Amino acid sequence: MSAPDAGQQPIIILREGTERNRGSDARNSNIMAARIVSEAVKTSLGPKGMDKMLVDGFGDVTITNDGATMLKEMDVQHPAAKMMVEVSKTQDDEVGDGTTSVVVLTGELLGKAVDLMDKKIHPTVIIDGYRDAQEQALKILDEIAIKVKPRDRKTLKKIAMTSMASKLISGHSDYLSDVAVDAILQVAEEANGGWKADLDMVKIEKKPGASMTDTVLVRGLIIDKEVAHSDMPRHVHKAKIGLLNAAMEIEKTEFDSKISIETPDQMQSYLDQEEKMLRDMVKKVKDAGVTVLLCQKGIDDMVQHFLAREGIMAARRLKKSDMEALAKATGAKVVSSVDELTADDAGYAEAVEERKIGSDKLLFVEGCKNPKAVSILVRGGTERIVDEAERSIHDALSVIKDVVEDPRILAGGGAPEIEVARKLRDYASKVKGRERLAVAAFADAIEVIPTTLAENAGMDPIDAMAELQSRHAKGEKWVGVDGINGKIANMEEINVFEPVAVKAQAIKSATEASTMLLKIDDVIASSKSKGPPPGAEGMGGMGGMGGMPGGMPPMM
Ligand SMILES: Nc1ncnc2c1ncn2[C@@H]1O[C@H](COP(=O)(O)OP(=O)(O)OP(=O)(O)O)[C@@H](O)[C@H]1O
Ligand SMILES: [Mg+2]
Repeated sequence: MSAPDAGQQPIIILREGTERNRGSDARNSNIMAARIVSEAVKTSLGPKGMDKMLVDGFGDVTITNDGATMLKEMDVQHPAAKMMVEVSKTQDDEVGDGTTSVVVLTGELLGKAVDLMDKKIHPTVIIDGYRDAQEQALKILDEIAIKVKPRDRKTLKKIAMTSMASKLISGHSDYLSDVAVDAILQVAEEANGGWKADLDMVKIEKKPGASMTDTVLVRGLIIDKEVAHSDMPRHVHKAKIGLLNAAMEIEKTEFDSKISIETPDQMQSYLDQEEKMLRDMVKKVKDAGVTVLLCQKGIDDMVQHFLAREGIMAARRLKKSDMEALAKATGAKVVSSVDELTADDAGYAEAVEERKIGSDKLLFVEGCKNPKAVSILVRGGTERIVDEAERSIHDALSVIKDVVEDPRILAGGGAPEIEVARKLRDYASKVKGRERLAVAAFADAIEVIPTTLAENAGMDPIDAMAELQSRHAKGEKWVGVDGINGKIANMEEINVFEPVAVKAQAIKSATEASTMLLKIDDVIASSKSKGPPPGAEGMGGMGGMGGMPGGMPPMM
């Protein structure tokens, strides 16, 4: 990159090969890329939304309806497209649901901004207008929110059912919602006058096979390991659990060593010595009163045999995350050497049992010292269904947690969006100057949610919006799109409810992302990366994307 000056040498500022894209070019190509991403996920919004099949570089297939998962697996290249991926990830991390909505909303906000820029309205005016509108929108959500009891099962179940309505496994949402509500109610704790629920306390294990209604909530932990030795007990009552992060083996020296043995006696004494060391290890476990030993590393065959003779159950090569969860649940301390194992370090559970699930054996640690530890064992026909079920249960757990922690809900089906848009338009009429146009554009943009829900449900979006708007104007504030039956309905009657937190977060993140992209007027891309650099091909690609929104260049 160089800046030629009359009669002077050009001044080199940027490395050779760096691509620069400035002003409205840069902005337009960013917006285009972001909108392509948004268009791609749009069809999967709502209960009649489509699923996507994604194939990664290794040929692994993921089938999902979850916005965050789709985008994560898509492996997008363009920097602005990557921002969209981040937006949905933030939504997932913060509230766990609404990851498709947030991307669709961001895309629409950008689309409306383009219309305004075409009318020669400066991006900074649009940004100010959007921020103002966002603030108002959040206020409106607070006003229309319905207060509920944080631990009311009925409400929580409705919320969970709505979040599962749009998933592949929606046929089982009634059953799975109960499981999810039970799980969160079990882990919820009172804190600062409200309730807190730690999702990490709900462990999810999945095993293909059986039916989805065989999914169960276990009050304790499920460890995907089997008992190490066939002679060990398969069931231990009132278990004293020892957690060991060291191998129960004779350590090999780091360097080569030689032992010369000349007589059979010497051989025997060598073996005796080795056996004694192993027996000592087992003795330490026994002396600590441990009846179930869970080891993060290996356990020597002979040690297994001795443990079995002492009636001690053991499992080896546990995952670190399992060890941590076990420590939390049973109150055990993970020790890094058998010598350190004492009765005080041992944890407690009512029962530890090995059970056969499908073709595998799993350990169930139930009735833990800490009753807040629970697990969900997800079952279902095939691996891919179980994977999607896990993601859907994650969404359900998240929305239940959202309501337990912030007990306010809204109807779904696009009803709150219509209401926000209507009130925003009123507000816009009072805003001075050109910003008013941006506020009005924001109101139009937010209606993309009901429009898309109607479209995906096979309704005529224009008719649907006309009816929705007129009924809202008459005060029917919870009228929305009945996505399952493809008609307009009162969402309270069909029990479609969502947490306020999900809607509020979507509005915040979408505003933030869209204003951020609007503010960029210079993209400087270094050519360092391998393959087509985002500067050269990527931006060339952006140019190509300039042909949007009609055709969609491949993103994957
Ligand atoms: N029965 C229903 N009728 C109409 N709309 C519904 C129904 N159930 C859910 N919805 C609506 O569907 C939308 C959510 O769709 P979906 O779950 O596909 O996307 P998301 O929540 O934005 O993203 P994701 O679940 O992928 O994180 C919400 O606006 C919700 O109100
Ligand atoms: Mg959802």
